[in-house]
Amino acid sequence: MQSLAQGFSTQAVHAGEQRDSHYHSITTPIVQTALYVFRDTADMVEYQERMITWGEAEREEYGRYGNPTVQAVERKLAALEGGEAALLFATGMCAVTSTLLTLLSTGDHLILTGDCYRRTRQFCQTFLERLGITTTLVPPGDYAAMEAAIRPNTRLIFSESPTNPYLRVLDLPRAVDIAKRNNLILVVDSTFATPVNQRPLEFGVDLVIHSATKYLGGHNDLLAGAVVGPRKLVGEIKNSRGVLGGIIGPHDAYLLLRGLKTLALRVRRHNENGMKVARFLEGHPKVRRVYYPGLSSHPDYAVAHEQMRGFGGVVSFEVEGDLESTGAFIDALRLPCIGPSLGGVESLVEQPAIQSYYELTTEQRRQVGISNELVRYALGIEDPDDLIADLEQALEKI
Ligand SMILES: Cc1ncc(COP(=O)(O)O)c(C=O)c1O
Repeated sequence: MQSLAQGFSTQAVHAGEQRDSHYHSITTPIVQTALYVFRDTADMVEYQERMITWGEAEREEYGRYGNPTVQAVERKLAALEGGEAALLFATGMCAVTSTLLTLLSTGDHLILTGDCYRRTRQFCQTFLERLGITTTLVPPGDYAAMEAAIRPNTRLIFSESPTNPYLRVLDLPRAVDIAKRNNLILVVDSTFATPVNQRPLEFGVDLVIHSATKYLGGHNDLLAGAVVGPRKLVGEIKNSRGVLGGIIGPHDAYLLLRGLKTLALRVRRHNENGMKVARFLEGHPKVRRVYYPGLSSHPDYAVAHEQMRGFGGVVSFEVEGDLESTGAFIDALRLPCIGPSLGGVESLVEQPAIQSYYELTTEQRRQVGISNELVRYALGIEDPDDLIADLEQALEKI
């Protein structure tokens, strides 16, 4: 199939599927196996020779190295991100940790933009630090600080775009320019954008990472992670995956494959809901501030419009009041469930001060930029008028 010339949804439905080799089934089967067997010793020797010569064979050996269901999703995702190859993991964190452990060695230094997923920051500042790999955190949007942080031993820049929870958008051409001039690998966690809204590889980014648990899966029913990029780099990370062991299981891969087929439809609705809800909240007297890159009040509005096709379903905002009244506002919402994720069909809401930052004092939260009144609303695909009516009645109660 000539996938490159086709539109996004056509590829989402058809790319990566090898129907002829799967009993002509329209869906890719779940190949539920831990290992693959060999006819005889000659068969095994032929496989070994192929692996030595080509680094790959037209068959599998063991489930930790590959699986046909997983590979169908990897081919589809590579097509959707415009990359040569993709690799799936059991979780988004597994994609992050396996990638960084592959590309960095003792004595190396990496630059990480702040306002990123807490566990990514924790991995860099604790696990990598223990291995003698140091991290400098730079504020999102400060490219002078990014450049000033580069040392002779810097190997890599890692940034989310948009970030969590303030939806800061990395200026991709600018970051690519800094990385290329300094011979650094640029890795972008594009979880909040999806390839529907942003394709970082087209800007020259080296590797794209996703928590596929979010929009790519899209139904709050699986955990998965992905890395997409050039065959050589992805191949190195694949070798690490075989050692570190974080491959996704075939059942979850199938759910992800199914979720990807409707990605463009779902993300279009998330974008619509995000824009409508952000505008509503910005005009409400009980809302102090709204963070959404589709609004002109957002610091990265211009960058986002330059490089994104939509701004996603996550809207962060601060309400008038304090820790308790913000909790009461969340409790008064009837549609979203309270929970720490995003990107699924069901709307989810959380108050970061009592979820991810619960153990910190108000002052410590202030230092990491999280106010007690901050709300992160991950809009699902419900009807926008219902979501707004629900917000309206809950805001009346504070
Ligand atoms: C931007 C981002 N990257 C990575 C992760 C980790 O993904 P997972 O929960 O699938 O391990 C998350 C999880 O919330 C995330 O928001």
